[in-house]
Amino acid sequence: MKKCIAVLAGDGIGPEIMKEGRKVLDAIAKRFNHTFEYKEALVGGCAYEKYGHPLPDETRKICDSSDAVYFGAVGGPKWENLPAELTPERGALLPLRAIYGLFANLRPAVIFGPLAEAASLKSERLKGGLDILIVRELTGGIYFGKNKVKTLTLKEEAVQGDYAVDYMIYSVPEIQRITKVACDAAMKRNKKLTSVDKANVLDSSKLWRKVVVDYVQKNYPQIQLNHMYVDNAAMQVATNPGQFDVIVTENMFGDILSDLASAITGSIGMLPSASLSETGFGLFEPIHGSAPDIAGQGKANPLAQILSGAMMLKYAFGLSKESNTIEQAIMAVLEDGYRTGDIASVNTPKDKILSTSGMGDRVVEYIQKLKF
Ligand code: IPM
Ligand code: MG
Repeated sequence: MKKCIAVLAGDGIGPEIMKEGRKVLDAIAKRFNHTFEYKEALVGGCAYEKYGHPLPDETRKICDSSDAVYFGAVGGPKWENLPAELTPERGALLPLRAIYGLFANLRPAVIFGPLAEAASLKSERLKGGLDILIVRELTGGIYFGKNKVKTLTLKEEAVQGDYAVDYMIYSVPEIQRITKVACDAAMKRNKKLTSVDKANVLDSSKLWRKVVVDYVQKNYPQIQLNHMYVDNAAMQVATNPGQFDVIVTENMFGDILSDLASAITGSIGMLPSASLSETGFGLFEPIHGSAPDIAGQGKANPLAQILSGAMMLKYAFGLSKESNTIEQAIMAVLEDGYRTGDIASVNTPKDKILSTSGMGDRVVEYIQKLKF
């Protein structure tokens, strides 16, 4: 198979973890006889420095003409105080999600067995293992409300002094289409779906809950559906994560819950994501940020980036076997005791603590030698 991949490494640790992600894709291409052609483009702060905009036209053209977007991370203190529309987050990442209609964000939080000791929970709380799929709505809610509301009427007391407003807006079709994605995923897993909202306070959540109930009852009667308020869901994820199968939730709740779930897997450096459109076009990125504090030091864990590549193979190209091979190789590397600093423990021998590229090399080596 021949595929063209837009490579947007971004800022901070983005370029160094992306290098490892590509190394691993190249190893897969070689082993399974595929051709992956990469087209690199700047995004985020580095693009702002060169073009005066974090999402230049050149970058969009490259994404337009590619089969998928492989994304690193953007942002950093240097660009935080720019006008909002020029920051890496609001000027590039969010617009990319909106332009390509990437409404369905899949964030699997899986604990790799050998990492149980790096997890933030005591082992008895992890007895049921941890294999949650968070399905986060990605192009609506409070992240994008201002695009939809043009006129502003505020009560008198609110307009005294400085103020800022964000709108959380959801329409019925937006809720239905993300519910469908979550249900389809649940049908391939344990058929359990937890919808997370704040229906005791927010109108958008009341609508969310009603639409999810109606949609699941009508279209997926086999699915066992329950509901949780987001504050309770955070507590439940932190204390009894084994109860979850698929979680579906709106944009901001999904952002917060996925960072929480990542801590349970051992490190935020372990969680990949896929952001998909209705036509199946996708952007694949780790859930973590650009970690400017450790950039360029070879300390970053490249596994979330590598696992995002595995998601790209599966969801964008339908290459499940290749995708599983990457996961198996990572499992074997971890089983043999290799760690980056973030997932190492006091028991990890010094010679098993790897740099960013050391970890990428090891995954490649295991891909080459895995037997099927
Ligand atoms: C994520 C990130 C982004 C988000 C930021 C960088 C805008 O935290 O992908 O989870 O909030 O969606
Ligand atoms: Mg986040």
